[in-house]
Amino acid sequence: MSSNESSSRVLSGMRPTGRLHLGQYHGVIKNWLQLQHEYECFFFVADWHALTTSYEDTGNIEQHALDMVVDWLAAGVNPGAATLFIQSKVPEHAELHLLLSMITPVSWLERVPSYKDQQQKLNDRDLATYGFLGYPLLQAADILIYRAGNVPVGADQVAHVELTREVARRFNHVYGREPGFEELAESAVTKMGKKAARLYRDLRRKYLEQGDGEALDRARALLGEQQNLSIGDRERLFGYLEGGGRIILAEPKALLTREAKVPGLDGEKMSKSYNNTITLREDPDSVSDKIRTMKTDPARVRRNDPGDPANCPVFSLHEIYSDENTRTWASNGCVSAGIGCLDCKKPLIEAINAEQAVMRERAQQFEQDPDLVHSILLEGSEKARDEARETLEDVRSAIGISYR
Ligand code: TRP
Ligand code: SF4
Repeated sequence: MSSNESSSRVLSGMRPTGRLHLGQYHGVIKNWLQLQHEYECFFFVADWHALTTSYEDTGNIEQHALDMVVDWLAAGVNPGAATLFIQSKVPEHAELHLLLSMITPVSWLERVPSYKDQQQKLNDRDLATYGFLGYPLLQAADILIYRAGNVPVGADQVAHVELTREVARRFNHVYGREPGFEELAESAVTKMGKKAARLYRDLRRKYLEQGDGEALDRARALLGEQQNLSIGDRERLFGYLEGGGRIILAEPKALLTREAKVPGLDGEKMSKSYNNTITLREDPDSVSDKIRTMKTDPARVRRNDPGDPANCPVFSLHEIYSDENTRTWASNGCVSAGIGCLDCKKPLIEAINAEQAVMRERAQQFEQDPDLVHSILLEGSEKARDEARETLEDVRSAIGISYR
């Protein structure tokens, strides 16, 4: 267990792409909805990351950010449970990015797979910039500044979390020996209260003098239970346990979100760039039109041609939206040509519109009163800033530029 598994904080960001589609809802947002009840969550709009790939075309960023946040709220992300904010409203991310850039070898960034991939895929963009090379390091700063233990991401982002871990390790290695570490650690021990402090010292001695691994585990668990330690003190005590310096930046782990198989209208993966999406709060008639013209098994040319649900993107939607009875009905009707494709699509249109009705209703108050969204983001950004400032102070003082 790395020290940071004691941190149950979750952080994730999304570039401001505007209105969300069903693929993002089932793939990412539903995951957030679950996490917000289990962990302390920070979700943010990565607007600076949008600049790294399209610095010339910034006219829509603000509107896209707001539309996206309204969709988060419409989908049920709860600003009472999770902290929602805008990256650029927390400039501390940029300072940490800069400081991390001092210790990050250029080769680490060049070998992140997305670097070359994206340059090939987005070959109409200028990605030969310093900012784009730094994309994953900015992401590392986003994560490390909150000492987040868990980062829910898709498979394409796992390498970025891995880089984050390496950068944290390197930072701790270079700067982890703060002046007066022992005294600070000892004073943190006393903050746990007499009983816990005695137990901590006991377990630490057993581990350091006798290499007792069980004692180490118990001491870590003990630290995990302490309510009145600041995160900084807790990290000190984790480091102190092993005799080493302090862990200033904690290593996060990726919480891999399972790929949601939401097909687009053309049967390819649903994606804004393929122009095959259904958005979260679409007009019911438009949902109906899109599903009615959605691609089906090409073998079903005529109504009496039997089909194969395994070859049909519409059936993949049944797997997401329908209960078992409906799925069996659709599947049997398809292979026997007992139902037509329009029959098959009807329950889906209903299910998607029912799901969206709830979201449209939730969105209404925010659409009528954009100030409400602004104030949620303002409050979230302030809260995030307080957390970010705390980490930065530790970082500055570890480097030796705190001027206090
Ligand atoms: N790079 C992420 C993406 O494209 C967005 C992102 C920026 C992010 N900073 C982050 C995700 C920090 C998780 C944690 O999806
Ligand atoms: Fe697809 Fe349903 Fe038509 Fe079969 S009946 S091809 S599953 S839409």
